[in-house]
Amino acid sequence: MQTNKLYLYPVWVRLWHVMNALMCLILIISGVSMQYSNPEYPFIRFDLAVSMHNISGIILSASYLMFFIGNRFTANGKHYRIRIQGLIASLIKQARYYAFGIFKGEQPPYPVSTEMKFNPLQRFTYGLTMYLFVPLVLITGWALLFPETIVTNFFGFGGIQATSLLHVTAGFLISLFLIIHVYFCTIGHSPSSNFKSMIDGYHEAH
Ligand code: HEM
Repeated sequence: MQTNKLYLYPVWVRLWHVMNALMCLILIISGVSMQYSNPEYPFIRFDLAVSMHNISGIILSASYLMFFIGNRFTANGKHYRIRIQGLIASLIKQARYYAFGIFKGEQPPYPVSTEMKFNPLQRFTYGLTMYLFVPLVLITGWALLFPETIVTNFFGFGGIQATSLLHVTAGFLISLFLIIHVYFCTIGHSPSSNFKSMIDGYHEAH
């Protein structure tokens, strides 16, 4: 079968992505270890998990800044712009394809192109994760690193407690995104082709 290669992932996106993925994995593993560990038998020794979490959080913040500036000043940012008009219909069309059409060998409703590298579901979930969940986890993480900056009383709740709840919720949503993201990345020209494209920059299309 003939394949068509499109250059969709510039070097800075690939560098940002590998750093982002690695740091998120370390943050999730160390975060879960701190949250659920039995002090006597921790998955990762508590003080070590705290250091791992703080250092990878700082590196993630720097790489997020790179992503934010890169998307603001290069053409990559256009792929993240969500248009409200027709949004629900396009999400349903793509979800219908993933649920049924793909198994019947139908053509994708939004084929990958240099103008539109993400389908509507990708655009929506990548946008939500990168412009809401990740900033939320970073801002609350920095606040917890410097707890003296947090208000002591937030509508009757302890400020630290409320910040920590927001932090854990955002972390949970990112973890959920990660599992679904990696699964959907296996739906490509071949199960490994999307992973390869994040190494060499070229997307393999039919
Ligand atoms: C083990 C971890 C991960 C793997 C193996 C992975 C894999 C991939 C692959 C193969 C792509 C290219 C295909 C596509 O565009 O859908 C991609 C793109 C992307 N990933 Fe991941 N990913 C991981 C973690 C993450 C995490 C933690 C986030 C966000 C918190 C993330 C956000 C994104 C975004 C926003 C893109 C699109 C980048 C662009 O082209 O602008 N990924 N990922």
